[in-house]
Amino acid sequence: MSQITEWCHEVIKSQARAGGFYIDATMGKGNDTLMLCRLAGNAGRVLAFDIQEEALRITEERLKEEGMSHLAELILDGHEHMDRYAGAESADVICFNLGYLPGGDHEIATSAATSAEAIKKGLKILKSGGMMSLCIYSGGDTGFEEKEKILEFLRKVPAREYTVIVNEYYNRENHPPMPVFVFKH
Ligand SMILES: C[S@@+](CC[C@H](N)C(=O)[O-])C[C@H]1O[C@@H](n2cnc3c(N)ncnc32)[C@H](O)[C@@H]1O
Repeated sequence: MSQITEWCHEVIKSQARAGGFYIDATMGKGNDTLMLCRLAGNAGRVLAFDIQEEALRITEERLKEEGMSHLAELILDGHEHMDRYAGAESADVICFNLGYLPGGDHEIATSAATSAEAIKKGLKILKSGGMMSLCIYSGGDTGFEEKEKILEFLRKVPAREYTVIVNEYYNRENHPPMPVFVFKH
């Protein structure tokens, strides 16, 4: 659990079932897409979004190596448009790993406005019993606006429909990443 992605993967795995519908909102190098494909299995389905062609190329390559290309649809579009590709109450899991492509251009990163919009749409796309996982970064090149906007939005999500859990690496310095989970009742 010392790595935020490991923490998020463990929680997702504890909730997910084979044959489900999973969305990776930030494909990057495909680590989360791959994990979701393994969970989905042959009876499941994965949609993955990124705005960089490089992310699609790297992820496609990795899925091919693992023999899982047939399980995922890789979409070159912003996650703020995910409602064009997935219906309301359809997804079991939606996974966000915010920020920039590791090793890529730090200028091409998720942003406060589009992330908040995507999370709002994602909550509607989640089915009852489904969950959203968010890896939120702050400080450095990323700044604080995105984290603050997301936390402000999540604070107002109705508690009778969703449970929002905000976690903290409590004894770490230098703005540690923040894992957040939203469960739809
Ligand atoms: C931290 S990386 C994701 C890491 C990734 N999940 C992995 O396993 O390697 C964040 C990604 O979000 C992408 N991104 C930025 N804005 C986006 C948007 N509006 N919609 C979808 N992806 C976006 C970036 O291009 C970058 O590849």
